[in-house]
Amino acid sequence: MTQAELTTERHVTQVAGFTVWLTGLSGAGKSTLANAVARDLRGGGVRVETLDGDEVRQNLSKGLGFSREDRDTNIRRIGYVAKLLTRNGVVVISAAISPYRAVRDEVRREIGAFVEVHVKASLEACVRRDTKGLYARALAGEIAQFTGVSDPYEEPLAPELVVDTEREDVATGAARVIDRLVELGYLRSAADA
Ligand code: ADX
Repeated sequence: MTQAELTTERHVTQVAGFTVWLTGLSGAGKSTLANAVARDLRGGGVRVETLDGDEVRQNLSKGLGFSREDRDTNIRRIGYVAKLLTRNGVVVISAAISPYRAVRDEVRREIGAFVEVHVKASLEACVRRDTKGLYARALAGEIAQFTGVSDPYEEPLAPELVVDTEREDVATGAARVIDRLVELGYLRSAADA
């Protein structure tokens, strides 16, 4: 049995609300990882809400662009909702590029129970995947201020976890997130209950 299967089948219980903050380039695999972790946790009866950048930008952040100011506003809004949910005992998984370290750290301070996960893939891999066809357009100069191409991405300096999506499959990445949450005391493994 692989590590991923073991963890998926392992029963975990929730100790309190917390936020898992996924950060990384567009196409690095944040949404995929968020969905996998959410599914695993829900399967164990944990209440989970995901806040996905693409989805948030269609409602809560509708009308915002990609200047630093607008991105920071987007992140503060996601952080605010995450804070409310977290303090009410919900597990929140955020999946937005969140390219700027300063506002990520600000949100970390606001939320408190905050686990930063760098969803890491090289720019070359993201361009190769180009799941939404946006890198081709950005590289052709058709989209301005595109993260990694013509706009910065500031890697986290001390994330709680790095998931390398070029080397780990989704199940392994999700299992490592859950393992880390157990290690940090946010989740309890049924074996320890
Ligand atoms: S963030 O920078 O404010 O955190 P967010 O995760 O909400 O970004 O949205 C990123 C998504 O918007 C990308 O995955 C991509 O689909 C789309 N997008 C459109 N324009 C840009 C751009 N200039 N830079 C990055 N992503 C963009």
